[in-house]
Amino acid sequence: MPTFRAPRGTRDLLPPERVGLARLERLAQDLAARYGYHPIETPLFEQSAVFERGIGEVTDVVEKELFLLQPRDEDAERWALRPEPTAGIVRAYVQHGMQTWPQPVKVTMTGSMFRYDRPQAGRYRQFWQFDVEAIGDPGPAVDAEIIELAARFYRDAGLPGVTILLNSIGDGACRPAYVDELTAFYRAHLGELPPAERARLERAPLRLLDSKDARMVALNAVAPQITDRLCDACAAHFAAVRTHLHAVGVDYQLEPHLVRGLDYYTRTAFEVYPAGVSGQQSAIGGGGRYDGLVELLGGRPTPGIGFGLGLDRVLLALGAAGVPATVEPAPVAVVVGSDPADTVARLRIATELRGAGLPVRAELGQRKLGKQLEAAARDGAHFAVILGDDLAGAHVQLRDLEAGTQRAVSVTGLARELERATKSHRHGLATPES
Ligand code: HAM
Repeated sequence: MPTFRAPRGTRDLLPPERVGLARLERLAQDLAARYGYHPIETPLFEQSAVFERGIGEVTDVVEKELFLLQPRDEDAERWALRPEPTAGIVRAYVQHGMQTWPQPVKVTMTGSMFRYDRPQAGRYRQFWQFDVEAIGDPGPAVDAEIIELAARFYRDAGLPGVTILLNSIGDGACRPAYVDELTAFYRAHLGELPPAERARLERAPLRLLDSKDARMVALNAVAPQITDRLCDACAAHFAAVRTHLHAVGVDYQLEPHLVRGLDYYTRTAFEVYPAGVSGQQSAIGGGGRYDGLVELLGGRPTPGIGFGLGLDRVLLALGAAGVPATVEPAPVAVVVGSDPADTVARLRIATELRGAGLPVRAELGQRKLGKQLEAAARDGAHFAVILGDDLAGAHVQLRDLEAGTQRAVSVTGLARELERATKSHRHGLATPES
């Protein structure tokens, strides 16, 4: 057993997995840019009040899962690692007076989030999200644009058949009366509630709606539904979101029991699940509208909408769907040599090739040529540049590791030759022998 291990709920992303995550990050950033979202970066930690006020003090995320930092100074502000990006981004929007910028302000961020949750498969204490936020547009068209962007991300990532669940959870005009009605409904069925749900009833009655407990599923089937109780403005907004989604060809399922785990949501709410899977813990993304959040964090009343996609879970879902999520970067060539001790020459030639822009590995160990060539093949390199006796005459041997052919090339023309040979290799042509 090693003395030190990564903290529980975190994991080291070793090269193959990190490459898979990097691919998703690149895809996310390119896609967001194509839709006109600009990158933003906020600190990994904020005053904990940003999350307490923004996300809501009685949410699981704040109440149970906030990673509070221990200040060194007694009088210091209380800080917490960010459990999600939206509150921090909205804090930045207010702090930097972004309401004076052309609206909406469309930003995107990809990075790690921290939740002190009970770790299990797909639920980590440090995880990665791709987040986009459009602040300053009341919708409904932008709601559909954002959901379509999310749908495209999964498709481009190679994840087929995700399910998008959609709901409207109303606003300050219609939700309070609905919450009262729902609470009264559950109170009338108190005896049927499992103890954990009974305990949540008075504090967060909406959360009982997406409980996966079989008794709750049966009860919720007959519980009052928010979508039947939306005020006229929310109902019109929801209908218009659906019209826009239809226009851009996004498939979704209406899910009147969908409520989100963060308190800032109003109106549009959505979650995404991999094919054939459901349940909060397996959502691969979620988002919605938060028309009260800017004001809650001290700004002028400003609407907003966004989403966060869980990249760790997308990687897991890609794996489960048998989609190769990782691509091992292979060097085009490995520089090897017949004199195991001559690391100077191997390093020098490799450095020149890299300077010319070629991905090249140099054999820097002192093993025999045969072993060096075996390692080059294991690396997936297409070519070996073999330094031998002809190096004195400023020549090397360029070997095509797949075809097993080899020819002499001058050191001065090596980068050009390698580039040409790589292109032919890519097009399935054998390298000509001299
Ligand atoms: P969320 O639903 O709390 O929303 O998280 C978004 C996604 O992050 C989830 O669907 C899931 O894929 C992933 N996720 C959450 N917790 C974990 C965890 N412990 N381990 C692995 N993955 C996890 C938000 O965070 C909102 N800020 C989304 C948003 C943006 N709404 C408006 N703008």
